[in-house]
Amino acid sequence: MKNPIKALQDAQNAHGYLSTVTLQSISKNLNLPLSKVYGIATFYHQFRLQPVGEYVIYICKGTACHTEGKETIIQYLREFLGLKEGETTTDDGIFTIEYARCFGCCSLAPVIMVADRRGFSSQIFGNLTPATITTIINDYKTEYLSIPVGVL
Ligand code: FES
Repeated sequence: MKNPIKALQDAQNAHGYLSTVTLQSISKNLNLPLSKVYGIATFYHQFRLQPVGEYVIYICKGTACHTEGKETIIQYLREFLGLKEGETTTDDGIFTIEYARCFGCCSLAPVIMVADRRGFSSQIFGNLTPATITTIINDYKTEYLSIPVGVL
């Protein structure tokens, strides 16, 4: 029998999140009750039950980043991405913001990590200012828009 955690990881890597249909499919394929599959998916923080953007921007909530202006970065990032109150994913589906614990590079605070939703690549950016965030976001957007239709 396939490990349900591995099945959930594989599905999330393929789709970016775990939809109800995906959970039902895993339940059926592994011959496990849907409640058990759902329980595993909601127990582990790594699993998402909502769609995310192509790139996930993890904002460090550690102490050093907090004292070095994390709130200013969050405010600018949200405004620049056009996120309304309560929203975490841009309307175009390119970016999602999430929060994370210390990345271990506190001397670069404030810090974000940008990762593609499939977890294939990630990059840390530090010493952030509104100007550097603008450049980072524009670069990722340009990269995304240069990907031929149908590749993702
Ligand atoms: S507190 Fe942000 S990287 Fe350590």
